[in-house]
Amino acid sequence: MKRRFTGSSNPARALSIAELRHMAARRLPPFVFEYLDGGAENEVTLTRNRAAFNRVAFRPLVLVDVEKVDLSRQVLGRRWRVPFAIGPTGFNGLIAPDGDRALARAARAAHVPMIQSTVSNTTIEEMAAIAGLEHWLQVYVFKSDEFMQRLLERARAAGVQGLVLTVDGSVFGNREWDKRNYRPGTTDPILRHKLATLAHPRWGIGMLLQGGIPAIGNIADMLPDGRRDLAAAASWAREQIDPSLNWRRIDWLRRNWDGPLVIKGIARADDARRALDAGAQGLVVSNHGGRQLDGAQATINVLPDIAAAVGGQMTILIDSGFLRGTDIAKALALGADAVLLGRAALYGLGAAGEQGVARSLALLEDELRRTLAQLGCPNLESLGPELLDRGDRGPLDP
Ligand SMILES: Cc1cc2nc3c(=O)[nH]c(=O)nc-3n(C[C@H](O)[C@H](O)[C@H](O)COP(=O)(O)O)c2cc1C
Repeated sequence: MKRRFTGSSNPARALSIAELRHMAARRLPPFVFEYLDGGAENEVTLTRNRAAFNRVAFRPLVLVDVEKVDLSRQVLGRRWRVPFAIGPTGFNGLIAPDGDRALARAARAAHVPMIQSTVSNTTIEEMAAIAGLEHWLQVYVFKSDEFMQRLLERARAAGVQGLVLTVDGSVFGNREWDKRNYRPGTTDPILRHKLATLAHPRWGIGMLLQGGIPAIGNIADMLPDGRRDLAAAASWAREQIDPSLNWRRIDWLRRNWDGPLVIKGIARADDARRALDAGAQGLVVSNHGGRQLDGAQATINVLPDIAAAVGGQMTILIDSGFLRGTDIAKALALGADAVLLGRAALYGLGAAGEQGVARSLALLEDELRRTLAQLGCPNLESLGPELLDRGDRGPLDP
């Protein structure tokens, strides 16, 4: 039977992340929704990320006292109230007015950490001013050492908790659906999309009030003269992200950054070991939400090997496709310490700004708590692979 979502635009009426996605799809013009929702090329990995969760089944324990379920966990030296954080996403100001701060405020209120993207609309300093936010910075490695030194200095001065270095984005993914929406080589939407914004007045008015589609504020001051507007900055950033990035550069970063370092975009056990040897405290098992290499494996399927290789020696975070508390529980049972949210938080942002993000976070927490209770787990430590069956891959138990 076909299920129908609410017709309301009130985020409190959304009962799942899928329902917030549905609200975002109605509120945002198609070129913005596609930017947020899509994957690379045939979207095989995007689909696979979700399908892989369905192939993992639970084997619940019964008659365990689960009146109280504790979701807290020690992650990278801090107590996290819940085992998830908001992952780095660029250009959030396109999705909702002042999008970075809307995410940050909802994160702070829920005591959830947030990782700010290098290519965010809001500066590191502005984000650091949000008192009480656990604030991390994601970095892309740019060709210019001077640019990198400056970025690290700013991060240090702003007191960010740590760096998340993204290593699966140095060659930009082929997102045809996104390219198609703009005049070739520009950040100017094609006429059909400009006209379509008239049919999405709540988004359009919000953008007008914030002065239009925002520039990449975080790096604006560091751009060459004459390249500070959005189009020039976006093309500059693409040219500058360094495709020659390799493990030696990680050594350079390690020498220039003495705080915690997490490497994001690891998809194999041997690379996880290299990340450990390179001195990273953590890694993010990620395929960038299916936006980079199409055809890559689902992260939940590569997690067990990575956990076997480096579990207990470094923090293992994971993202890509997480839209349910049950998805999070499966990853934790397979050895992840915590999960990063990409689109799950952005659907809330697109649906209703800060309130929508708050709803995303609350729904996931509620779902995770219920899942643990139904599995017979009063805390995260009692979640293990013996509670899962990976179907045709065979049970994980020896
Ligand atoms: C709209 C959008 C923008 C993103 N921007 C960045 C970015 O600036 N830096 C980065 O490291 N990852 C970026 N990502 C990838 C996310 O950090 C994360 O790996 C991915 O969204 C996880 O998959 P999920 O969306 O299925 O949860 C972006 C993802 C989306 C959806």
